[in-house]
Amino acid sequence: MKNSETTTTGLLHRAVDIGLQFKARPEIFGRRSTAREIRDLLVTELPVQSMPGEEVLAEFVNHVLPLCKNEASPRFMGFGDTGDDQLALMGSALAVLTQQNMINQSFDSPSATFVEIAVLRWLRDLLGYANPPVDAVHTVWDVGGMVTPGGTTSNTVAMMLAREAKAPGTMHTGVTNPGRMAVVVPKGIGHYSVKAALTWIGCGAQVIEVPTRGFRYDRNELARILREDGDRVMAVVAYAGDSRTQTVEDLRAVHDLVRAVDPSIWLHADACWGLLAAFSPNLRDKIDGIAEFDSITVDPHKILAVPYGLSALLVRKPSVLRTISTYSDLIMQEDFAFGQVTPFIGTKGWMSLKLWMMMLGRGRAGLAELADHRQKLTRRFAELVDAHPRLVRLNDPDLAAVVFAYLPAGSTLDRIDEPALDRVNQLNIALHKRILTEGRWHLHQFTLPDDLGRLRKGAVVYPLRFMANNPGLTESHMHEVLAYLDHLASDLEEQAA
Ligand SMILES: Cc1ncc(COP(=O)(O)O)c(C=O)c1O
Repeated sequence: MKNSETTTTGLLHRAVDIGLQFKARPEIFGRRSTAREIRDLLVTELPVQSMPGEEVLAEFVNHVLPLCKNEASPRFMGFGDTGDDQLALMGSALAVLTQQNMINQSFDSPSATFVEIAVLRWLRDLLGYANPPVDAVHTVWDVGGMVTPGGTTSNTVAMMLAREAKAPGTMHTGVTNPGRMAVVVPKGIGHYSVKAALTWIGCGAQVIEVPTRGFRYDRNELARILREDGDRVMAVVAYAGDSRTQTVEDLRAVHDLVRAVDPSIWLHADACWGLLAAFSPNLRDKIDGIAEFDSITVDPHKILAVPYGLSALLVRKPSVLRTISTYSDLIMQEDFAFGQVTPFIGTKGWMSLKLWMMMLGRGRAGLAELADHRQKLTRRFAELVDAHPRLVRLNDPDLAAVVFAYLPAGSTLDRIDEPALDRVNQLNIALHKRILTEGRWHLHQFTLPDDLGRLRKGAVVYPLRFMANNPGLTESHMHEVLAYLDHLASDLEEQAA
């Protein structure tokens, strides 16, 4: 090997080692600084002189990396996008090094295209969508899905499909009657991507929010709204795991209800989180009915420890993807060119390789184990929350999220009036602020309607959320994070006294 090549290879190996050490360290952050401090440190002019690779790496290691978040640390319990599965990391690295372009098959990604097709078929099969036999897969329109960088893109593609189903040909004519392109979502727990998608695809920000019960559609209200507003509606979105509590909708009941009112309404299931339930026979019932939906979004980068980004949009009837396909005489005129069926994206890296490797490595049995283990940890954390005298659990976990609030000293649950709720919220907001500033542990926070009435029915709460996605998570981490919360709460209360 020539000298310069040896040096480059050595540098790359060092970079990989540094990345792996970063992932393996127990701390979330090496250092915390304010956004302004980091801005002033890093937003610099491009130097005139070249810098040797060694120095570029040193610059990164000394100034950038210590401030990076390590979500693979089991102390980071707010989400769980750990991206630390060994085979998924291997797939990520090899996808970068092989630089295949999924836009075309023949010369751009001769084998990668078929790896992508295999992964999409595995996902479809796990969720219950039927796959055609392999020898009947003649084109990308026989596959029934596409890989995208994230759930937001997948949901946007689903909304385009709904739009074409409601007003065929809109791809060519543009939107002529946006008044008929509203989308029904559950109130207070929907993900912003659906509304954003509607604005991006020219339908206008028309979501019709339907009240919920226990973080699922109130089906009486859903039926009423569909009967009253039916003609305006192009799609109903249901969450197989909402973004806050990860509650799984009663998908079959929603499907039956919507189809009975109007079989032409597009049914989309957002299973960014709920894909987990497809892996285990113990959880599979939770997503019963999902295969009757017209489209499904899944987000392996959220739940399968694969590095960003990786999502997929799957469709019940593969041929519907023709309604949103584009044609170019410049490229993509071949049967297996994914560029024809992936809106918004031209050149596209081999995102699916990491999932292909991860899923091959686990097999069906390993994926089931992963899902069951997570559920066990989630149940254990819920028990610890329930046993804690100052914690109130706000959801009954379906998947891996436990949402809870810390009660101020002296609060009792039988008297949570508006001022008392305000005190609960102020304490939990202050706790979360301290958590962020210190960066030692991480729990997430958002607003949530108290749909189960654990504090005050229907009130807006600012709870904390734990998630059991991290493979390194143990029971002692759970005890430690709760002890940390106790310490923060008493500190805050002492300061206020
Ligand atoms: C239910 C749900 N759908 C969609 C998304 C968007 O996914 P992404 O951030 O991968 O675009 C999220 C993200 O949190 C989510 O929770």
